[in-house]
Amino acid sequence: MSVKDISKVPQHVAIIMDGNGRWAQQRHLPRNMGHVKGASGVRVLVERCAELGIECLTLFAFSTENWRRPDDEVSTLMGLFVHYLEKELRGLSDAGVRLKVIGDVARFKPELRQKIEAAQSVTENNTRITLCVAANYGGRWDVVEAIKRWQAVNPGESVADLTEAALSGHLSTAGLPDVDLLVRTGGEQRISNFLLWQCAYSELYFTQTHWPDFDAEELVKALGWYARRTRRFGMTSEQTKEFAG
Ligand code: FPP
Repeated sequence: MSVKDISKVPQHVAIIMDGNGRWAQQRHLPRNMGHVKGASGVRVLVERCAELGIECLTLFAFSTENWRRPDDEVSTLMGLFVHYLEKELRGLSDAGVRLKVIGDVARFKPELRQKIEAAQSVTENNTRITLCVAANYGGRWDVVEAIKRWQAVNPGESVADLTEAALSGHLSTAGLPDVDLLVRTGGEQRISNFLLWQCAYSELYFTQTHWPDFDAEELVKALGWYARRTRRFGMTSEQTKEFAG
């Protein structure tokens, strides 16, 4: 499958980057090396997504549940995040990437929070692609926070008046399209509290490939699979054909 064959390009691709630990263990390396290798491929993949016309790529870098991992693994992941923001920022920005971090960053150290703020502000006017990094993110947290935010800006209103459109505008992904294609590497087939609201109508692509091996060729394979899907959004096949023109 070549890039030319991809007729339908998703606007928003989200990826659960799983399999780093197993990739490392299969090579008799410490688990952390899987994360290092996994992080090193991100920049090329973001650039490839931009070339293909994808508007937004969201990566699940650290979940609210990942704090349960051994301390040294948590610090490796935090360190990689800082390193990424320091070393890759210029290249990403030059490539027209807008960086957005979603998740409860309040729990991160001030140094990391400050780097996140700076990276977001340096890249805020870039329009080629949005790279959304989910860090200390949980889908249920996102929905609960959105309700709280809605209530804070509408103090006189009852939740009985809350609509889906209004709530969407207060999610961490406000302004971004819903996820068209959700990819999970590493062979597991679950959503793991990722973008629960935003994935309501996503096509789900699961691959055995571990994240450190998920390169541009694997991406094109996933996009080719997506292009062959018929998305029905609850309609019948006949209605879907009319809808698509
Ligand atoms: C899951 O693999 C992966 C993670 C919990 C972390 C993903 C983070 C990175 C790739 C690095 C940081 C990313 C950026 C954007 C800077 P696992 O450890 O659960 O693998 P396993 O299931 O094989 O054990």
